[in-house]
Amino acid sequence: MRDPDSFFPIRIDTLRAGAPTLFDVFVLVGDHHVHYFLGSDAIDDERLSALKSKGVRKLYVESRNETSFLRYLVNGLDRLRDPSLAIGIRGSIAQDVILTTIENLPHNLESESAYRTTEKQMERVVDFISQEPKGFAAIFEGTRPATDLTEHTLNVLILSLKLACESGVHVTKELMDLGTGALLHDLAAQIDPHGSDADPAHLGRTLQMLEDKAYISGGALTLIENHEERGDRLGYPNKKRLSRLPLTQQILNLCNDFDRTCSQNKRPPADGMKPYFIERVGEFELIHLQKLGQILTSKI
Ligand SMILES: [Fe+2]
Ligand SMILES: [Fe+2]
Repeated sequence: MRDPDSFFPIRIDTLRAGAPTLFDVFVLVGDHHVHYFLGSDAIDDERLSALKSKGVRKLYVESRNETSFLRYLVNGLDRLRDPSLAIGIRGSIAQDVILTTIENLPHNLESESAYRTTEKQMERVVDFISQEPKGFAAIFEGTRPATDLTEHTLNVLILSLKLACESGVHVTKELMDLGTGALLHDLAAQIDPHGSDADPAHLGRTLQMLEDKAYISGGALTLIENHEERGDRLGYPNKKRLSRLPLTQQILNLCNDFDRTCSQNKRPPADGMKPYFIERVGEFELIHLQKLGQILTSKI
């Protein structure tokens, strides 16, 4: 549980101008949390933009107001379905929702009720990518090579969901399991998993962290367990033949390996398929590699 007298960070883009938040928002100045917005006042767009122009990306909320913040976040998800907002804006909202979900994971995994917030966020992201024709492209635009685990998780999540939709996966439960599997697949990776020496032990540690959490679906857990299998018994932990594993597993493993390779070589994912294809052509189904290539160049 969070200490009620402490603060927790929030992403600045999760705040919406024009409406009161019902919780106070602070900015960190030196070692001090200084009041910036009062919960009773509407968030002022100009002050928000001023912070962003100074490079501020994180603000703070008192831990005692966590429930109120989570409610605010969930209400904000409705904006993803608001057709009056341009698709580009909804794409950046979706990206923020995903990044917030990833950053809050350690805390939201502590209890079933907190985990339900993660699920609600995932439902909306699945909905946005699977139902909105330009949804994926709007999130993906400008995606860079992942420089940390959060960015890697974001890339794997959106690429996996899009590739699944384009490969005929339309069952919500399967997409939810895939999204959850992508979200949690490297949960316990402590070092940069994208350096030249990936850390195989991260898999066992991740499964250990999840083993007593009965509210995480079995489908997602299986995807996580097998996410480092590839090719013909080339991966780990069980050297399985990837082509014999379910479609969503093949998709997750491909997107994970693809994004890691892009990250290692500092290649933007949008330009990453050609060299990746040459290197890995025998290890994943040709049709999946081709479809992923089309998705990356936004041809579908
Ligand atoms: Fe991994
Ligand atoms: Fe990964």
